[in-house]
Amino acid sequence: MRTHYCGDIRSSDVGASVVLFGWVHRRRDHGGVIFLDIRDRAGIVQVVYDPDTPESFALADRVRNEFVLGIKGRVRPRPEGTVNPDMHTGEIEVLGLELELLNSSDTPPFQLDEYTEVGEDIRLRYRYIDLRRPEMQERIRMRSRATAAVRHFLESEGFLEIETPMLTRATPEGARDYLVPSRTHRGKFYALPQSPQLFKQLLMISGMDRYYQIARCFRDEDLRHDRQPEFTQIDVEMSFTDEAQIMDLTERMLTHLFAEVLDVQLPPFPVLTWHEAKRDYGSDKPDLRNPLKLVDVADLMREVDFNVFRGPANDPEGRVAALRAPGAGRLPRSQIDGYTDFVKRYGAKGLAYIKVNAVAEGSKGMQSPILKFLPDEIVEALVERVGMEDGDVVFFGADIEDVVNESLGALRDLLGSDLDLVGEGFAPCWVIDFPMFEKVDGHLHPVHHPFTRPACSAEELRANPENALAHAYDVVLNGCELGGGSIRIHTVEMQEQVFDALNIGQEARVKFGFLLDALKYGCPPHGGIALGLDRLLMVMAGVSSIREVMAFPKTQTASCLMTAAPNDVDEHQLRELHIRLR
Ligand code: AMO
Ligand code: AMP
Repeated sequence: MRTHYCGDIRSSDVGASVVLFGWVHRRRDHGGVIFLDIRDRAGIVQVVYDPDTPESFALADRVRNEFVLGIKGRVRPRPEGTVNPDMHTGEIEVLGLELELLNSSDTPPFQLDEYTEVGEDIRLRYRYIDLRRPEMQERIRMRSRATAAVRHFLESEGFLEIETPMLTRATPEGARDYLVPSRTHRGKFYALPQSPQLFKQLLMISGMDRYYQIARCFRDEDLRHDRQPEFTQIDVEMSFTDEAQIMDLTERMLTHLFAEVLDVQLPPFPVLTWHEAKRDYGSDKPDLRNPLKLVDVADLMREVDFNVFRGPANDPEGRVAALRAPGAGRLPRSQIDGYTDFVKRYGAKGLAYIKVNAVAEGSKGMQSPILKFLPDEIVEALVERVGMEDGDVVFFGADIEDVVNESLGALRDLLGSDLDLVGEGFAPCWVIDFPMFEKVDGHLHPVHHPFTRPACSAEELRANPENALAHAYDVVLNGCELGGGSIRIHTVEMQEQVFDALNIGQEARVKFGFLLDALKYGCPPHGGIALGLDRLLMVMAGVSSIREVMAFPKTQTASCLMTAAPNDVDEHQLRELHIRLR
């Protein structure tokens, strides 16, 4: 039986007889001796075979990359001058005494250390090989450590892990459902859960008091670097609670997790209102490692002779904001002009800017085609408001509020990275006081979900739904929306009022009749949160896509290149499911 993992052997094991199992990472023939780098889950160790053991030596000569071997040997220090400080096992090597070939391997589709050159498609097609890479192994290990730490924390806080169904009714989280046809109920379909939202609320009605689940969720939506069709939530719900308690619990859970898994002490989480986040960062998921802020200047622009600014400055739905980019004066003109094209992607019509050469000289010390529209006293007020300094470029957005926020918010991120302003480490925050609804194409949609309790009475909601705030909160880390939750509606009256405000009263009574019924039978006040585990790990691992922290992710078009799913099915299977393809 195995005595050690390859990667765990250290100088303290010198002299020990070891039995190892692993894959050939690399084989080198150094005239008369053969070096095999053997890799297993824990890492790589160098094994040396010499002609004193002729049979093993001959076999070692024949093995190739990714062959699977069993090895007996003895640990010895590496000879002077051959110590490798880059390897955990770099001070020792194993003198191979016996060698057993457990399996051979075809030439792998890519070399494990040359994976960057092969492209993600090949990596995903041969994911089982990609996962052999030490980097991927470390991420998968981290994932396991993270879920263990979460479970440990929540259990210690009295939460019960409860599984909820995968075959269920549609749950409204705003994406399309994945449907599963029923064989036994002709023409009917289950939906895979977009989240356990309704079940966790029902569990509160059941008196479970504190629930959690590391829950798989399914959403058929446009995929991006931080979205997969199936993903995992750390899902939490509790009764007789309030926002402060859930936020405190979440903060302590994340702090515990970062300490356990990364040995990092997270700072306390600042709390921003949704309004403040939009005002200062143009985003409801601001990266607080970036020091840049948007500054309102509409009040200065109400009377200027520049329509681009004056229009939005006098429009109640408009916004005129400035974004000071310290030191951007050194950027080439082409790059600054490039930012205009960049903000256009977010609906902006242009991007005015002022280049500040010598702020002491007022507008004479600045360059910009818009200066001719700005009287001296306005320029002075701008200098003061924005905090202009020599070498800055100050960008302006003027439009309806959403366009200014989206475009300058995105520009803020880009400038942060182009100017190297984004600090190291982790910057979490809370965003609270979300609006209850947003208007899309003239219709109200829930900003969270329709089970979120409004921060007003049912009458006030009826009278003025667009102004209602929600008892909802998001947790954000380094500009990534990690999770969100809310205090829930626990009375039928309010729940029906929200459905009515959304204009789905009748439909909802059919779809969520079971919830409306349940609310009548002694529903405790309750609330909760769900964190995206994949996103959390993406930020922890410092990678740019959640695919990098999932064992078997799907592509942008939601296919699995390895198993070739989704795939055709047999005619008889379709027939059983009462399905005819169009
Ligand atoms: P929400 O829809 O905000 O809330 O989801 C919570 C968190 O889940 C993660 N997430 C995703 N991760 C990867 N791929 C996706 N497609 C994806 N969609 C969402 C995000 C997100 O912040 N039931 C509510 C929670 C609650 O109110 O308690 C819910 O699901 O990190
Ligand atoms: P124009 O008068 O269209 O030549 O624009 C003058 C400057 O204002 C140019 O630098 C434009 O990029 C910029 N600009 C145009 N529209 C906007 C806008 N909505 N917000 C900010 N700047 C704008």
